Amino acid sequence: MRRHSLAVLPGDGVGPEVTRAALTVLDAAQDRFGFGTERTEVPLGADHYLETGTLLTDDVVDQLRAHDAILFGAIGSPRVTPGILERGIILALRGAMRQAINLRPVRLYPGVPTPVRGLTPQRCDLVVVRENTEGAYVAQGSRVHEGTPAWTAVQESVNTWYAVERAVDFAFRLASVRRGRLTLCHKTNVLVEAGRLWTAVMDSVGERYPEVETDYVHVDAMCMHLPVSPERFDVVVTDNLFGDIVTDLGAVLQGGLGVAASANLTFEPDATSMFEPIHGSAPDIAGRGWANPAGACLSLAMLLGDLGEGEAAAAVEAATAAVLADLPGLAGEAMGASTHDLGERVAQVLREGSAPEVEGSLMVQLAQVRGMMGR
Ligand code: NAI
Ligand code: MG
Repeated sequence: MRRHSLAVLPGDGVGPEVTRAALTVLDAAQDRFGFGTERTEVPLGADHYLETGTLLTDDVVDQLRAHDAILFGAIGSPRVTPGILERGIILALRGAMRQAINLRPVRLYPGVPTPVRGLTPQRCDLVVVRENTEGAYVAQGSRVHEGTPAWTAVQESVNTWYAVERAVDFAFRLASVRRGRLTLCHKTNVLVEAGRLWTAVMDSVGERYPEVETDYVHVDAMCMHLPVSPERFDVVVTDNLFGDIVTDLGAVLQGGLGVAASANLTFEPDATSMFEPIHGSAPDIAGRGWANPAGACLSLAMLLGDLGEGEAAAAVEAATAAVLADLPGLAGEAMGASTHDLGERVAQVLREGSAPEVEGSLMVQLAQVRGMMGR
């Protein structure tokens, strides 16, 4: 039997609630598709920090390296100064594992309410590949004369051929198993130095993928096109800062925080990729069973795709989409069922195999791309 070892980091607030629901779904996927998992729960987050004063230690990083994947809930707590847990755990983990890509599907499933009037599932199915380790988020910057009218802040952006090529190459591979279109999103007309490097990488890597059609969109124009004509896009590759902004806009199109999923992918041999819903710990609704577990379930589906369990991944996606389609609302009491019940419902649909197949499943494509890359 195929076995995978998972590190499970439920975290804070609704993190453990949605993670528990996702694990119920994983149980059902294992039963149906005949694979197994060993799961190790790792207590990172506010409680652990307040008890022990530690964030992500080297020992924990080593422990996580030994696993095939990390399933992450969410962290953050009103009891801890903002930034400490987020930087000390999530960003630290992305860095330590060199999770080179943040992958964010923007897919509107049938029956899910979107604030964009007239938007249909047929028109909204794209994937953003965000470079996850550099850009404006790693440059230290400097300041002088703080607190005076001469206060000067310098904040630069770091772009290496190495990291950009990894993101772009992955994006080309993904486009080649999807609809064959890759869009570079940047601001090359103003950020000319970074823009030149990104463009050169696109041209160079593109020679290896003649079957993929490429184009280019400025990030500001992207914010206009995304809500109005998302069907223009198949795979979008972009830098860390632009990706952060554009994917939040993307999440809105697909029904918001409860539904959107993400993957932090590493390509290092002894490191581990991490899969998480994009929402935070939602302290305002924690403990009430009001969190939508769909984002966590779809993150689990990506995890399974990345581990090569393409069939199980597609089935988890299909079951989650089927349950979403029937929900009267996307969060809180409006869902008409608790987080726990929704996890059970997705698991049930999965066991029955009664959900209609999702066409062009990203989860299957992920398995294909990881296969191509020799995993
Ligand atoms: P949040 O994503 O936790 O919540 C924003 C709003 O969305 C809240 O009204 C919440 O109730 C709702 N919401 C979130 N997840 C939901 C779900 N699954 N179903 C239904 N509704 C949901 O963002 P917020 O409030 O800005 O941050 C809360 C804490 O989470 C902070 O400490 C923040 O730093 C942290 N955070 C952690 C992230 C992570 O672990 N990756 C990401 C974003 C925020
Ligand atoms: Mg963000």
